[in-house]
Amino acid sequence: MPNLFREEARRLMRLILWAAAGVVVVGGAVMAVFMAAHSLSWRSRPEILEGTDPSRRALIVYQPGLSPRTRDVARTLAQGLNATGFTVTLDRPGRHLPVDLTAYRVVAFGSPVYAGQTSWALRRYMASITAWGTPDVVLFTVGVNPYADNTASLAELVPAEAIRHRVKFHRGAEDRLKALELGRTLGSGD
Ligand SMILES: Cc1cc2nc3c(=O)[nH]c(=O)nc-3n(C[C@H](O)[C@H](O)[C@H](O)COP(=O)(O)O)c2cc1C
Repeated sequence: MPNLFREEARRLMRLILWAAAGVVVVGGAVMAVFMAAHSLSWRSRPEILEGTDPSRRALIVYQPGLSPRTRDVARTLAQGLNATGFTVTLDRPGRHLPVDLTAYRVVAFGSPVYAGQTSWALRRYMASITAWGTPDVVLFTVGVNPYADNTASLAELVPAEAIRHRVKFHRGAEDRLKALELGRTLGSGD
């Protein structure tokens, strides 16, 4: 009887170890997919919102996530700016983007957050910028953790005096309103 009990206990232990190994492997694979998607340089897909004042131009560069949240925040920010007369260009990070930003009054960089990390593709683009000019720079991240804005890795690639806002969007439905208001605030020069 004690032998039978010991055998059962060993079987149970083996089962638990296999289950734990499965969780580690599947979890690692899921994480790898998210991190890879987050690191891709995408092909150019510019969206341009024409404004009423050609001298006021804004550029918004965002890393698309696996869901549309980051893209939606970027588009809503663009609409807020556009409502104040700005011509806004939205695009994804990559070699197609300008490295001279002197034509822009406002520049925003946005990334989803996975495992505390911002997009590598976005950071690579930001590091390639050779002329900043004097734009108001906005850094934003999209995630679920309200306690960390995760923009530090982006901020270190921007001249400190240019940064106007560092924002974490973490509230789902309320993010659109927040993005719209941020766009309007930037557009009105506040
Ligand atoms: C594997 C994984 C890791 C995540 N890590 C973080 C994190 O460290 N901080 C955070 O605020 N959100 C984290 N999130 C939440 C995502 O940032 C959130 O789902 C966000 O909507 C992703 O942007 P997207 O919707 O544009 O893809 C994580 C989500 C997943 C699936």
